[in-house]
Amino acid sequence: MSLALNTSYLRDFVSPAELEALEPYVETAHRLLHSRSGQGSEFLGWLELGQNRCLEELARIQAAARQIQKDSQVLVVIGIGGSYLGARAALDFLRSPNYNALPKDTPDILFAGNSLSPDALNETLELCKGKDISLNVVSKSGTTIEPALAFRVFRDLVEKKYGKEGARKRIYCTTDKAKGNLKSLADREGYQCFVIPDDVGGRYSVLTPVGLLPIAVAGCDLQALLDGCAAAERAYANPKLSQNDAYRYAAIRNILARKGKVSEVLVSYEPAFVMLGEWYKQLFGESEGKDGKGLYPTSMCFSTDLHSLGQYVQDGSPILFETVLALKRNRRDFYLEPEAEDFDGLNFAAGQNLSAVNHKAFMGTLLAHVQGGVPNLVVEIEDRSEYTFGYLVHFFEKACAMSGYLLGVNPFDQPGVQNYKTNMFALLGKPGFEEQRKQLEQLLSDL
Ligand code: PA5
Repeated sequence: MSLALNTSYLRDFVSPAELEALEPYVETAHRLLHSRSGQGSEFLGWLELGQNRCLEELARIQAAARQIQKDSQVLVVIGIGGSYLGARAALDFLRSPNYNALPKDTPDILFAGNSLSPDALNETLELCKGKDISLNVVSKSGTTIEPALAFRVFRDLVEKKYGKEGARKRIYCTTDKAKGNLKSLADREGYQCFVIPDDVGGRYSVLTPVGLLPIAVAGCDLQALLDGCAAAERAYANPKLSQNDAYRYAAIRNILARKGKVSEVLVSYEPAFVMLGEWYKQLFGESEGKDGKGLYPTSMCFSTDLHSLGQYVQDGSPILFETVLALKRNRRDFYLEPEAEDFDGLNFAAGQNLSAVNHKAFMGTLLAHVQGGVPNLVVEIEDRSEYTFGYLVHFFEKACAMSGYLLGVNPFDQPGVQNYKTNMFALLGKPGFEEQRKQLEQLLSDL
């Protein structure tokens, strides 16, 4: 078992009867999901990515990763949102947030096209100077402006450095099988392409080629990752609320939100999980935040953030609950030697491993927050292995789908994301947006 949901600290906040009352709703939502007849059912490919893995595509990804490892010191991954966050989270979780700086025999991995900041772009270009590079541009639609602009710049760089023919061998596109500007360009230029399945939306796509290629370049084991996902798919295919941790988690979120706990903090005690928190925020935020509904997802890394946001969690607006992602086994522990002199009076914390101190910080914080009226759920995970990561990804995705259905929203669309794009295109003068531009300019001059 890679993951266990511990609800024993919730006693004062959620009663067994409240959970039981949700059972029929959960079973209905389960039926809708698994019969593919609920809202957004055209985007349910992620339900079986572990069990239905495409071996041919996997072999191509692994071959491309080996080629990149052989001919590049840097892989630049260009993408945003669901085409960026999963790979970033996986890299930190499976390798390290300091992956690029640590000694290793795999290429550095840089991320670009996830903002419109010239400083960020210039810095990434700077980091590529004098290095052999490959590009992996990731965009399902193939039309997203942030990665598309960054790709122009990096493609130009690669073409100038290696010539058009050389560049062809260093540009890998992950996109739709047939549609979009990126696919047309890739076909025209002869870039190798990996397919994002039609039925998997961006934020559910980390275990498709979107995440798999960069993860493989970092030297991680894709089979173990998908084995973990497949095991979770089987575990969370159980329609019974009491026997399905992903559904129990979703149901508890729903109950807490109805009691005014409308913001969930994903807490961890590991800096390597910070980007997983960013991935989780997109998954739940974009899936649930619509039709005036949805829990507000946020994340904190303790004990770091206990020194910045701890005060708010303990004593601020009573709208929060915490889901703690608790790691059972660190990769490498650190023994704290007691000091003969004990001049700083810290010997009470020494003579043990740092993980034991971290654990006491976790228990002390959990008890203080629970006593302060902040409900706490604990998701215990074994380790930082590929298997566990695959399992965890499916746990959150399945819980998110159930949570969305319980809220009565479509967890697989994102209509609200279009609004800023329309305004930005209009303000930039994109052809076809003339009317909106006039309206926005009027609005701005009225301010
Ligand atoms: O989850 C989503 O659908 C979005 O976050 C997209 O992944 C994001 O907008 C990037 O889109 P694309 O992959 O089409 O460039």
